[in-house]
Amino acid sequence: MSDKFEKLYKELVERVREATLIGSIESLLGWDERTYMPRAGAENRANQSAYLSGLMHQKITDPRIGELLSELERSPYMKEEYSNEAVNIRELRHDYDKLVKLPQRLVEEITKTTTMSQGVWAQARGKSDYATFLPWLEKVIDLDIEKAECLGYEKEAYDALLDTYEPGATVETVSKTFSGLRDELVPLVEAIANSSVKPDLSIVNGDYPVDRQATFGREAAAAIGYNFESGRLDITAHPFTTGIGPGDTRITTKYDPKFINQALFGTLHEAGHGIYDQGLDPEQYGTPRGESVSLGIHESQSRMWENMVGRCKPFWRHFFPRAQKIFPEALGQVAFDDFYLSVNDVRPSLIRIEADEVTYNLHIMLRFELEQVLIRKDLKAKDLPEAWNSKFKDFFGITPPDDARGCMQDVHWSAGYFGYFPTYALGNLYAAMFFAKALEEMPDLEEQFAAGQFGQLKKWLNEKIHSHGRRYRAEKLAEVVTGQSLNHKPLMTYLNKKFGELYKL
Ligand code: CO
Repeated sequence: MSDKFEKLYKELVERVREATLIGSIESLLGWDERTYMPRAGAENRANQSAYLSGLMHQKITDPRIGELLSELERSPYMKEEYSNEAVNIRELRHDYDKLVKLPQRLVEEITKTTTMSQGVWAQARGKSDYATFLPWLEKVIDLDIEKAECLGYEKEAYDALLDTYEPGATVETVSKTFSGLRDELVPLVEAIANSSVKPDLSIVNGDYPVDRQATFGREAAAAIGYNFESGRLDITAHPFTTGIGPGDTRITTKYDPKFINQALFGTLHEAGHGIYDQGLDPEQYGTPRGESVSLGIHESQSRMWENMVGRCKPFWRHFFPRAQKIFPEALGQVAFDDFYLSVNDVRPSLIRIEADEVTYNLHIMLRFELEQVLIRKDLKAKDLPEAWNSKFKDFFGITPPDDARGCMQDVHWSAGYFGYFPTYALGNLYAAMFFAKALEEMPDLEEQFAAGQFGQLKKWLNEKIHSHGRRYRAEKLAEVVTGQSLNHKPLMTYLNKKFGELYKL
């Protein structure tokens, strides 16, 4: 490489790393805000965070970055499509072009409006008062449409929003995948509902003292490979994971003393996110090559550890005796098969975040369809509750008794996150594709799980997915790892086999 381009590339990386550093300070403040910060500190924290995000936006949209990218795009670095340098130049161009298209005024208005509307939503949801929330939702939708117009798109505005969470995904490709999934999912949900096999839910709703849940959750997270030397586990109201930087990943959970699933599977879920962050290449920190691919790929890691591993039989062959020892009151007299069935309860339900792994994707598809018509303005926000309820009846056969348990249940729309929901279902689809491939390459994986060994799967994920950062976009990564393009077959094969056996279909 000529000295000239080497120098330019070095300058680009230095500038981008500075922005990343600011972002990681903001992440740490965000983690603190949601775990330990005293309530009265909220306003000062909002000022601190707003200051840092403004500073970061300024650094990352500096015109000098645009100049450097233009020069480097003509450099020999680009000859090798997937080299570290070419990846960074390509992905930084993607990010830069988006960020500079958003006027500072709009960025500020979105931040201000969504902060307020989230507050209104939280209050209004408590009373199931859609009328109070409506004017805010209307504002947020208009702002998201304006944002999409600024960002630009080929076919429809929603694509621009989707691309901010799942680079490269479009309504067209996602709809195609989802409709294939739905066609096969609906009969499975019906067959399970008609099965005579019924889980005994009193098993998972027994006495589970919080301190012992914490011990068990930490043991399970450590066993699957979450590294506590470079990670923490804390308590919060709405669990999340945040990667502060190399050597510092933070996961969170929430305990219910009368229900084991919430914290246990929640911890495995967040540990899956944490293992991804801990597996990123520290040498590449601060550049796209050292970052996660997309929300969908991130969610594939959490869902795989939570469901495909954490809710599988071999996992519990290993952990059930230990769980019986830790929770003798709740599990001492329970048979293995009954416990295993109870953590795999499947039934249509109102609330997405409490849904099982079979019906979960239907909750996402419903939101995806409604988001599209809202952004196209084919559905008015005032008509959303009616549209939600009729679609819900169609998808699940039940009608929500109120809007709190209907169209007001999630924070996302009040926060302006149109385009975010599909990434959850994409995560499940990618998880199944990766897991099927892992089983094919390591046929004794389940025997290893039964012996309490999860290291080989973690190492495989580290090598195939985590260590590459943003080298490949999500769909390309799936192709490189599995040899298949994004499709619903591996997920349906997995669900049909597992739940067919469990529910004797
Ligand atoms: Co997640």
